[in-house]
Amino acid sequence: MYALITGASKGIGKAMAEELAARQYNLVLVARSAQELQNLAKELTQKYNINVLYYPADLSVPNVATQIRDWCVDNQLDISILINNAGYGLWGWFEKLTLDEQRNMMQLNMNAVVDITYLLLPILRATTTKTNQPAYIMNVASTAAYQAVPTLSLYAATKAFIVSFTRGLRFELQDSPVSVTCLSPGATDTNFADRAKMGEGLKATAEKYNMSPTEVAKIAINGMFNKDAEVVPGFINSLSVKMTYFSPKSLIEKIAAGIYIKHLEK
Ligand SMILES: NC(=O)c1ccc[n+]([C@@H]2O[C@H](COP(=O)([O-])OP(=O)(O)OC[C@H]3O[C@@H](n4cnc5c(N)ncnc54)[C@H](OP(=O)(O)O)[C@@H]3O)[C@@H](O)[C@H]2O)c1
Repeated sequence: MYALITGASKGIGKAMAEELAARQYNLVLVARSAQELQNLAKELTQKYNINVLYYPADLSVPNVATQIRDWCVDNQLDISILINNAGYGLWGWFEKLTLDEQRNMMQLNMNAVVDITYLLLPILRATTTKTNQPAYIMNVASTAAYQAVPTLSLYAATKAFIVSFTRGLRFELQDSPVSVTCLSPGATDTNFADRAKMGEGLKATAEKYNMSPTEVAKIAINGMFNKDAEVVPGFINSLSVKMTYFSPKSLIEKIAAGIYIKHLEK
């Protein structure tokens, strides 16, 4: 059986690919950089003696999900795990970031997740019928999803969308053999901060709390197989999410703004 992971070329997605490879899952790796995917496929095939395929694609381009679905069907892949991990953030004042780059982020963080989930769900269901084994979907949100985050306003909103969509879908599929989980990592040592164009001050703050992608991946995959609704790796991250349930929104936003705006003005 295959696990299809988006954003598998680096960071948390790459670590989740390795975690599943170690559990003897065959893999389909999706991301933009063909060379990184090819290298990873070769490495994991040799190390774990599994089948690793890769599909280089820019998921922010509309209709790419249809091409991926068609390719999976043509290759008769029994996919039992779908991990929607590809995503990125943009740090800055909403007014100063370009509308094009913000639209691109929304396309990747939200629309691509919806498209791939919708189009691959029939394949996951067919695999469960064929194998009599459960299937799993895991969508990657963020601890930023649980409150507004000034200067990461739109990114946080895209991840709030993921939490809500994932929980709703999980409820709809509760009597089916497909389990749905939301993963919400906090600061993790990946390319994320660079792609979000975070300054050195903010990166230094994040580094104090960073988890490693390998740690996050292990907790995430365990949570997915445990059929958890939401997985928030790390004690501090989990505590910070719980605090948002009980604290006034204005207070939590002020704390978030304190961290992010302070560094933006430097
Ligand atoms: N790191 C953190 O602190 C953190 C915290 C909370 C949540 N997250 C979330 O975790 C997920 C993984 O991020 P990461 O931290 O591992 O960041 P990362 O190291 O930048 O990895 C992002 C992955 O997504 C792929 N990707 C980016 N744009 C893409 C596109 N248009 N089409 C296809 N693939 C694309 C990248 O590969 P290519 O560049 O090869 O396309 C890469 O494999 C994201 O959804 C992110 O929002 C991260």
